[in-house]
Amino acid sequence: MPRKTLREEVKEIQAQLAKLQNRLETLEGREEGHPTRIRTHIDDFDDLIGGGIPRGHVCLLSGPSGVMKTSIALYMLQHNNEDGVHPLYISLEETRESLQETMRSLGLDGNSDFIVDIGRLRTEHEDVEETGDWIGVLKDFITKRKRYRKVEFLVIDSLTGLYSLAELADSHRELFHFFAFLRNLGITSLFIYDQGEEGRYPNREDSIADGLFHMGFHCLPDGSVRLKLRCAKLRHTGHSMDYHELRFENGRFSVGPLSSSSL
Ligand SMILES: Nc1ncnc2c1ncn2[C@@H]1O[C@H](COP(=O)(O)OP(=O)(O)OP(=O)(O)O)[C@@H](O)[C@H]1O
Ligand SMILES: [Mg+2]
Repeated sequence: MPRKTLREEVKEIQAQLAKLQNRLETLEGREEGHPTRIRTHIDDFDDLIGGGIPRGHVCLLSGPSGVMKTSIALYMLQHNNEDGVHPLYISLEETRESLQETMRSLGLDGNSDFIVDIGRLRTEHEDVEETGDWIGVLKDFITKRKRYRKVEFLVIDSLTGLYSLAELADSHRELFHFFAFLRNLGITSLFIYDQGEEGRYPNREDSIADGLFHMGFHCLPDGSVRLKLRCAKLRHTGHSMDYHELRFENGRFSVGPLSSSSL
């Protein structure tokens, strides 16, 4: 094995130090009763992003269809729920029953009270079909929910679904105000975004989000396909930008090095 240069060794030590500092920050926050970050619970991924998503950040989780965006978001919420972090999952595409089935298939049994689907939103806001004001409906629902239950970690599945429902005259501007509304409430939020090709943000959503996570398919020369995940942006955080292989085994998501023999 070739010997490491002094520069490489220093870089490695610096990376280890940053990892330890991030861990310390998370532990200190936990001791005070207010962790400063919301963990993704993806094994070895939180260490790469400073311990988790900073509280109050509004982030995007993008990737093509079938890459397990919904699955991983449900996984994050369920594990946070178990940690005592209050979750809310708003689905604008799938029904609550379908999402419960996804949870069961991932071995995520237990409480799924935090899932609200579009059917319920329609029932509670009958006039929305006429007004098309879906952002107004979401704001109203979240505000009311916060009155009787804490909401600390929100997933909206999906932003693409919201665009097809809502009549937005200026998507960038309206989204900017919606994100600001969530930040003001201190809700850590994750918008799922169906994106065929990485980096395509027609309404410049990437510039107004505090964090960007990309998922994708990783094709190997032998025809096998793996999943990959990377953090492309996370404000207030020194983080890895690299793609990592994403695995789901024995009921847990984890990341590891990406095979360099990819196409
Ligand atoms: N128990 C399981 N273990 C491993 N993989 C699974 C399991 N159940 C489903 N999958 C994989 O997850 C995929 C669906 O995941 P999911 O619905 O989360 O994707 P998505 O990115 O949200 O897709 P969409 O764009 O349709 O919303 C399936 O096509 C399958 O490959
Ligand atoms: Mg989905």
